[in-house]
Amino acid sequence: MGVIISLPVGITRTLVSVVQKFILGQNKPLRIDLPLPFIPIDVVLVSDATQIVSINTNADVDRLHAQPTEKLPRFARWYFSATQFHIASKDKWFLALEPESESVQYQQRLQALKDRLSEGVEHTSITPEVVKNARNVLKRNVSALVPGHQKEGVSAQEAAYSFCERNVESGLNVMDATHTLRTTALTMSVAIMKLKENPDVSVEHLFTRKANCPSPMVPRVVMRETTLNGLLSYPGRPSSTIVLFFINSAAEQTSSLFFTFGSGGEYRSCAFKEFFYDFMTALKAELKGRRSEVKA
Ligand code: HEM
Repeated sequence: MGVIISLPVGITRTLVSVVQKFILGQNKPLRIDLPLPFIPIDVVLVSDATQIVSINTNADVDRLHAQPTEKLPRFARWYFSATQFHIASKDKWFLALEPESESVQYQQRLQALKDRLSEGVEHTSITPEVVKNARNVLKRNVSALVPGHQKEGVSAQEAAYSFCERNVESGLNVMDATHTLRTTALTMSVAIMKLKENPDVSVEHLFTRKANCPSPMVPRVVMRETTLNGLLSYPGRPSSTIVLFFINSAAEQTSSLFFTFGSGGEYRSCAFKEFFYDFMTALKAELKGRRSEVKA
């Protein structure tokens, strides 16, 4: 279909989706389908917890890199190359965006990260400069549109990757180490400040509030033509349609840390979840203890 026909069709379908969701109040995902020349955009935004769980277990969608990088939509490649999830120059993806397959050594990579976490990770070679650089990442999706931010994110990612390439312990995947470095530098300090400001709120409650979820959304890609069990009024397209789960909304709906750290259940949830919970619980007890010492 030429762009002269497909663009108005896409705009009309997008408007229908907006009306269904925001005017008629239908509990359906919002679909933005703009077949623009060079940067076609087709995204399905899902914020309902039950729908996220159902789509996540649907074999018609998978992790982004279940499709070869070059087949993914240009906007997705452009955005993710500025984050801690992908390094464009090496075409490597963080494990959470890889399909669960032998070819990406899913089990070995996961085990290596879990082993490091259970040992208690120590990074003696990480300097303040490395951490400062690692923070130059895209913090929110919209920030990619601010001039220069995407480029800054890409070079921060390149620098973090080459640091990890030189320093990573054997057995640990360099891309997974890069993600860990950048995530720790970016999110842990913010999360610790949140905890400090809210000493009387439980860790579960605090980190399931929409505004406090460190990862607001996670992506999936459509693998074959699908309406996602009737949730879409016309089929998503393989490689082209990206599904975004707003896990921060789902976390608040359910008060479940399985949404803060995944898509609602144990299956493929974050390897860091337990570590984070234990660390924050211990820190909270310490902060409370100090507070009562000061009062006494
Ligand atoms: C507070 C910081 C973090 C948050 C909020 C977070 C959140 C998440 C989320 C939402 C997912 C699921 C992604 C998806 O379903 O597409 C995930 C997956 C994952 N995370 Fe984290 N993460 C954090 C830090 C870390 C760190 C530091 C590590 C490494 C030690 C890590 C290792 C993983 C792994 C290996 C997966 C994939 C698990 C699998 O696919 O089986 N995460 N994380």
